[in-house]
Amino acid sequence: MKTYPFLRIVIRLYWLALIILIGLMAYPIKDILWSTENANIVNIANVSTSEGPPIAPELIAEIKLGKTLFKANCGTCHNRNMKSNMTGPALAGVKERWSDYPITDLYSWIRNSAALIKSGHPKAIEVYNEYNKASMTSFNSLTDEDAAAILTYVESVK
Ligand code: HEC
Repeated sequence: MKTYPFLRIVIRLYWLALIILIGLMAYPIKDILWSTENANIVNIANVSTSEGPPIAPELIAEIKLGKTLFKANCGTCHNRNMKSNMTGPALAGVKERWSDYPITDLYSWIRNSAALIKSGHPKAIEVYNEYNKASMTSFNSLTDEDAAAILTYVESVK
């Protein structure tokens, strides 16, 4: 087939322009196209991926569960940024603040703070008095694993 040199150049330029155009259109969604599944999940969980060792899949799953439970049960009173007080205190560093007691005490608090206060737990009473005796809802259906997941999520928020 006889081709005209000029036409061939035009066709090449046409393809070049098309490829550049597709590239430009794809640019805004490049993160979606290129990110691995885990990287997406980590983004959802607000965990920084830029530093430190890679995060284990089980930990990512726990953080995701914690985030879901937090949003459903705790977010109305505890700030999602974990740093500012709302109705309830900021939760960042709460494990550290309760570290004089077994972690299960903190789970008990989360499940039913009123019961723990009533049992005479010193830390529970201290927190209760500190926040003007406002009451936290009880969440009797939360398991220790659920509470642990919420706390892991709380700590993952930077
Ligand atoms: C109705 C509002 C409310 C909801 C909902 C709520 N909290 Fe609270 N939370 C409080 C208040 C108020 C305090 C302060 C202590 C008190 O007065 O009982 C508190 C205290 C706490 C503390 C102790 C903080 C510290 O610094 O020692 C933890 C931990 C906690 N909440 C976790 C949770 C979790 C987890 C959930 C969801 C499962 C939740 N809270 C849901 C209001 C709430």
